[in-house]
Amino acid sequence: MGGNPLIGALRRTRLFRAASRRVVRSLKLNVRTEGDNRTVLCAEFGTFQPATVALTRVTDPSDCRCGFWLHAMSVAPPFRRMGIGTWLCRQALDMAARMGAESVLLTVGEDNAAAAGLYTKLGFERLPSDGPLMPELRRLESIAGKPYAAMRVRVGPRTRDEA
Ligand SMILES: CC(C)(COP(=O)(O)OP(=O)(O)OC[C@H]1O[C@@H](n2cnc3c(N)ncnc32)[C@H](O)[C@@H]1OP(=O)(O)O)[C@@H](O)C(=O)NCCC(=O)NCCS
Repeated sequence: MGGNPLIGALRRTRLFRAASRRVVRSLKLNVRTEGDNRTVLCAEFGTFQPATVALTRVTDPSDCRCGFWLHAMSVAPPFRRMGIGTWLCRQALDMAARMGAESVLLTVGEDNAAAAGLYTKLGFERLPSDGPLMPELRRLESIAGKPYAAMRVRVGPRTRDEA
């Protein structure tokens, strides 16, 4: 992941964290639907759109990917590590829950520690790489040569057995 150590240190200061909280508190959500099964959520900060994420729904029950997926999460570099990714993902997970999702899935590159850290903080857990979904997912998504993991988080109400 690397990054400039000076910028890393700056981002850990109390001042930066306080400014980040103020930015996150002033974010507005912009939502647009694309077709029947895709919703794009954008975080707006004044006239900027520092972050976007897409929520898609695979409805075909014969498709192993059937369910809700987060895709294309992205925060503009100057706005990273301020909590904006966390805020926007939470908006997307709340929206999925309101749309009836029990859980939300995503894929993340094995080398993407920043994204994996974000998703873990939000409660996502890795699916076993030898589980039923992964080989089929690799075939369908054909992200050639790029190792990645699938993660899932529960968003719907728990059943009594799980509680
Ligand atoms: C991954 C990404 C979306 C994170 O967005 P962000 O707004 O910076 O994330 P947040 O500030 O909400 O950080 C939430 C947590 O994620 C983890 N995290 C985020 N950036 C990190 C980094 N550079 N290094 C290590 N952990 C990181 C931390 O656990 C962080 O919590 P903390 O700040 O309390 O330690 C952003 O770095 C990005 O857009 N990356 C490029 C695109 C990408 O990789 N998208 C994901 C595709 S699956």
